[in-house]
Amino acid sequence: MSSFDGMWADLAPVGRNPETGGYRRYAWTGADATLREWFAGEAGRRGLDLTTDRAGNLWAWTADPDAAGPGLVMGSHLDSVPDGGAFDGPLGVVSAFAALDVLRDSGGTLRRPVGVACFADEEGARFGIACAGSRLLTGVLDADRARGLTDEDGTTLAEAMTRAGVDPGALGRDDETLRRIGTFVELHVEQGRALVDVPGDRGAVGVAEAIWPHGRWRLDLRGRADHAGTTRLADREDPMLALAAAIREARAAADRHRALATVGKLRIRPNGVNAIPSEVTAWLDARGPAEDDVRAVVAEVGAAADTVPAEESWTPSTAFEPALRNRLAALLAGPDGRPAPVLPTGAGHDAGILAAAGIPTAMLFVRNPTGVSHSPAEHAEPADCRAGVAALARVVEELAC
Ligand code: GLV
Ligand code: MN
Ligand code: MN
Repeated sequence: MSSFDGMWADLAPVGRNPETGGYRRYAWTGADATLREWFAGEAGRRGLDLTTDRAGNLWAWTADPDAAGPGLVMGSHLDSVPDGGAFDGPLGVVSAFAALDVLRDSGGTLRRPVGVACFADEEGARFGIACAGSRLLTGVLDADRARGLTDEDGTTLAEAMTRAGVDPGALGRDDETLRRIGTFVELHVEQGRALVDVPGDRGAVGVAEAIWPHGRWRLDLRGRADHAGTTRLADREDPMLALAAAIREARAAADRHRALATVGKLRIRPNGVNAIPSEVTAWLDARGPAEDDVRAVVAEVGAAADTVPAEESWTPSTAFEPALRNRLAALLAGPDGRPAPVLPTGAGHDAGILAAAGIPTAMLFVRNPTGVSHSPAEHAEPADCRAGVAALARVVEELAC
């Protein structure tokens, strides 16, 4: 069994929901603790030095990045969306350790420290802010705001971190950690179908061009609780009607503005079959190639529901450093000498947050045969995963050997 296969098998049962086959690996939960222990174990097995930064992100270094850095860092995240797939995040972490194994087995010598990173709470599935770990690290998420974020049970992020043994009082931009990162490369399963249409082996691994602007907004829709069987239609204040208008407009406005908009999460109070709701909270995710179009979609959805959407997070358009991107695309050229495919994405990543903070950053995408992601059906073929590890090992050779 290859080191990749062994690690993949170890992770397979952690946080798996047997009913759907998907993963529920939310930040600072028991499943997350198991994943963080696994990461520490893999670091220890390879003799890497493990550190935790102020945001609780984990770093495993081959050598002291303060003395001999800044270093090259690979990695991704281990948390998931509700009933997410196995690949989004873990593929990048497992491939990073496996790439180090490839280099060790081939006798490669590192001339600079190489790190493997595991970012905390990338999906924001529990506390609502995606890429919370990298946003805290770079200071774009305010520490006080983060500490006060709550999950569905009312537990604050500060309480959850404390229970997980990580000090929330330390949250804040972490310059000591940032100084250690000379270059960051995140390998990730592709979350669309751009690589599927590239013929042959050249489509196994691509290089990211840019991340679309994207964000999350909360719609607070108020009504008046009342009896479903006795309240005349004319007398109702039913926030579900505003919700329906918002959902229909999300689709229509996204279509008009060549963007994407999704209402994927709701909270309904009191949530009874025979009660008109008093309150509906809906979350809108909007993204697209152009920032103005995304903003227009959000405004039009708000107008349709007669509310002003509250912005919970926003990530501007992020282009990865062109010189690094082109260098890696050339390095990973196919047998015909053509550079690896270069593609934009609508998915958010910690790599985007680091790139926006001025760190030279690149991403590699591993082909996903259906393009399906954030779902138990997310997949990458074993041969393509092996191609991803080989590509990452070549990147380490190029940038750190
Ligand atoms: C992260 O996966 C996102 O794009 O929502
Ligand atoms: Mn994701
Ligand atoms: Mn991801």
